[in-house]
Amino acid sequence: MNRSNLNYLALGAVAMLAGCTTTAASSGDPQPHFSSLYSTYLANCAQCHAPGAVGATSTTEKSLDFATQAAAYTSLSGTATGLTGNQQACNGVAFVVKDKPASSLLLAVLDSATRTAIDLTATPNCDHNAISDMALKMGTPPSAAFLTALNTWIANGAPND
Ligand code: HEC
Repeated sequence: MNRSNLNYLALGAVAMLAGCTTTAASSGDPQPHFSSLYSTYLANCAQCHAPGAVGATSTTEKSLDFATQAAAYTSLSGTATGLTGNQQACNGVAFVVKDKPASSLLLAVLDSATRTAIDLTATPNCDHNAISDMALKMGTPPSAAFLTALNTWIANGAPND
């Protein structure tokens, strides 16, 4: 084998390594850090929850904005607004309660076990009947690894990391 073939092989190996890294980051190796949660799944919520989103309707929750990681983190530190009909019992409810995954609307819309068990003292009517299933709205549900990472991130105080 001559030298240029060897160079070619070496380049191929580098390309394969780079390819592996990209695949791991996008296809589901979610870590309990906001940047990872955003890039592996939450960025897709912007189809509906972002200014001018194509999927938005008049009933879409009004304060969430997943257009960028920064906007997502800021809006997730707020509370639900603009919900109508069956869902309006959840207006004013925090998306993320630091250290408390079981009380966080963000986890409840993606994880049916959290949704079923949720017990919010100040807003008891924001229960599994009022909380929508966003995995269904997304079409592609989050992986079990994503849900575990989201749970851990909230339990760790939900930092902007
Ligand atoms: C296809 C459009 C669409 C997508 C995609 C979508 N949402 Fe929603 N979301 C809505 C609508 C519409 C509502 C209002 C409640 C309803 O009509 O079910 C809502 C409501 C919510 C609420 C308030 C839920 C409640 O019932 O109290 C949260 C939290 C939420 N969405 C988070 C998310 C997250 C996180 C994602 C991404 C994983 C996401 N949404 C993806 C359309 C969408």
